[in-house]
Amino acid sequence: KPLDIDPSKLVVEKTTKPGPLKKPEELIFGANFTDHMLTIEWNKTTGWLEPHITPYQNLSLDPATCVFHYAFECFEGMKAYKDKQGKIRLFRPDKNMERFNKSAARIALPTFAPTALIDLISKLVKIDSRFIPEQRGYSLYLRPTMIGTQKTLGVGAPGSALLYVIASPVGPYYPTGFKAVSLEATNYAVRAWPGGVGDKKLGANYAPCIVPQREAMSRGFQQNLWLFGEEEFVTEVGTMNFFVALKNKETGQKELITAPLDGTILEGVTRDSVLSLARERLAPEGWKIEERKYTMAELDEAASEGRLIEAFGAGTAAIVSPVRCISWKGKLVNCGLQEHEESGEIATKMKNWIEARQYGDDKHEWSYVC
Ligand code: COI
Repeated sequence: KPLDIDPSKLVVEKTTKPGPLKKPEELIFGANFTDHMLTIEWNKTTGWLEPHITPYQNLSLDPATCVFHYAFECFEGMKAYKDKQGKIRLFRPDKNMERFNKSAARIALPTFAPTALIDLISKLVKIDSRFIPEQRGYSLYLRPTMIGTQKTLGVGAPGSALLYVIASPVGPYYPTGFKAVSLEATNYAVRAWPGGVGDKKLGANYAPCIVPQREAMSRGFQQNLWLFGEEEFVTEVGTMNFFVALKNKETGQKELITAPLDGTILEGVTRDSVLSLARERLAPEGWKIEERKYTMAELDEAASEGRLIEAFGAGTAAIVSPVRCISWKGKLVNCGLQEHEESGEIATKMKNWIEARQYGDDKHEWSYVC
């Protein structure tokens, strides 16, 4: 039987050249890395080999390695936080491990015991703990990655793989900080489709998103909004899930809506956290929390009738990202913010509620102490 990941076999080699720490205000998302990395090799005869924590270093791969040709790559995004007592906390790491395994399985890469990797990630973040910023809004972004490493141009299941985890101290995702962004609805490309792989965190899903985003930028919008089908269902914003708050046309009831997990939507951990907090704290105030399909026309109608309350993106990197307006069919749909406002009430509340659990101020099972 092939071996699973075994944290007790961990081999640690510490760096002899510790790197400098950047001032938190100077951090650019994903540009700086810690001193160490975690690597675990796999092959189909042995299974997972012993884990290693080593100095952060280059990989050396043959040009024929299958990851370079057929995109055998999947990844995760998660964060480690330092609480007021100096303890290190991961946020809902079980969710990331579950999704990582689903992504890996979909592209014929090996799966692993979730608790084993959480254990090893905890060891890595403890070794590199000096890199975890303490200020609110700052954290250590973790990037678990898995690649097929077999040297072959033959198209088939990789006989070997590498799982590695690197870590990057980060501040606010957008250089502009917590500010409302403007979107352009993309009408010439789709991100995901039924039966496709848009619900998996595959690197191959991300590269094709850059051109539409750059196109939106060239016309003065920060991000693009992904629509699907003739009906123009609203699906995601850039690399984030999307939420809208509006008043029901018939009943006037307030609704918080996001697209359902029908295979075209990434199973965001932040998405799940927003839904669960909304069910816990907004539903008792009379809000209806809905995972359902909704169209751009429905948003436009709500906006024109003054029923669109606010809209925001939700993802690990930015947590929530308020949306000011959406350019669609030559008009600008205003998402409910006043000109001087950078966030709506729900987005602000969600950011604070989620951060309280991430930094351990609100003691909750979502926060995993390393
Ligand atoms: C997120 O966490 O929102 C993302 O998906 C962004 C990441 C790919 C940098």
